[in-house]
Amino acid sequence: MTDKFLQEFAREVDEGLSDTPKRLSSKYFYDEKGDQLFVKIMGMPEYYLTRSEFQIFSEQTDDLIKAFGVKPGENFDLYELGAGDGTKTIELLKGLKGYQFTYKPIDISEHAIATLQKRISKELPDVAVEGKQGEYFQVLSSLASETPKVILFMGSNIGNMLDDVANSFLRQLSASMNTGDKLLIGVDLKKPASVILPAYNDAQGYTREFNLNLLDRINRELGGDFDRSKFEHAPRYDEETGLAESYVESTEGQSVKIKTLDREFKFEKGEKIFVEISRKYDDATIEAIAKNTEFEIVERFYDRDKLFSDIVFEKAG
Ligand code: TRP
Repeated sequence: MTDKFLQEFAREVDEGLSDTPKRLSSKYFYDEKGDQLFVKIMGMPEYYLTRSEFQIFSEQTDDLIKAFGVKPGENFDLYELGAGDGTKTIELLKGLKGYQFTYKPIDISEHAIATLQKRISKELPDVAVEGKQGEYFQVLSSLASETPKVILFMGSNIGNMLDDVANSFLRQLSASMNTGDKLLIGVDLKKPASVILPAYNDAQGYTREFNLNLLDRINRELGGDFDRSKFEHAPRYDEETGLAESYVESTEGQSVKIKTLDREFKFEKGEKIFVEISRKYDDATIEAIAKNTEFEIVERFYDRDKLFSDIVFEKAG
């Protein structure tokens, strides 16, 4: 890890654990172990999101390409924000055989990008790939080019931002796009807690591991002494608001030292650290995050069970 990364990690952990209520940023989930666990989560029977979006990408490929308005022989850039392991996108890339484009996946995880590049060059050697490690907000500036763009933001990753952050992100995104460019956003739809909660608490315990891995990471990289057996994964879902939240809960009163910060943090029994939000959408919440952007809906796609939706927007001019 670079010094700059570690400094920022340290600062954010310090700020977050000093706050009331305590919080930690989910962007630190994704070290190599976290990436691997997340791939496991996506394969769990309870985690319907990836399967549903995969279904859209594999069964409605040609309609997606039509909505993108791209043509064989006309050059374009295909960006993907938070690309992960690319399984869904590969379905689209196969459908784009004969089209002239560069696939530009961006992910917070260096490891995910390296693995994805290797996978594409093996499975689809004709596709030009230029992967980049970075955060969503950092990549905005690199978008400024005349080349027509299709940007993919899948997996309901937008839902990991609070609505006002998502809205400001989309406004900045639309400002850095040219008229006619397309943006596909994958959103998980509101549904009963009996379906959502198990998706964030699989029976095999991978989501629990994934969340608690954050404590291990602090131990490893910042010299913390979190005792994993004294914390639990605690997900919540509110059917009214559509907000799924993940917390790490202290199962007893305790204090935790973090060497790099030269500080100790106290936890009450039952005290929760907020780690992640996963918003579930309906038409009103989709409108709210797209408010004051220059995006207009071209087409909406759904999986067969209507659990998930991919929305293709066009930047209007
Ligand atoms: N964006 C996905 C979701 O909200 C993936 C994700 C992000 C996730 N953080 C997570 C999945 C934490 C499980 C647990 O579902």
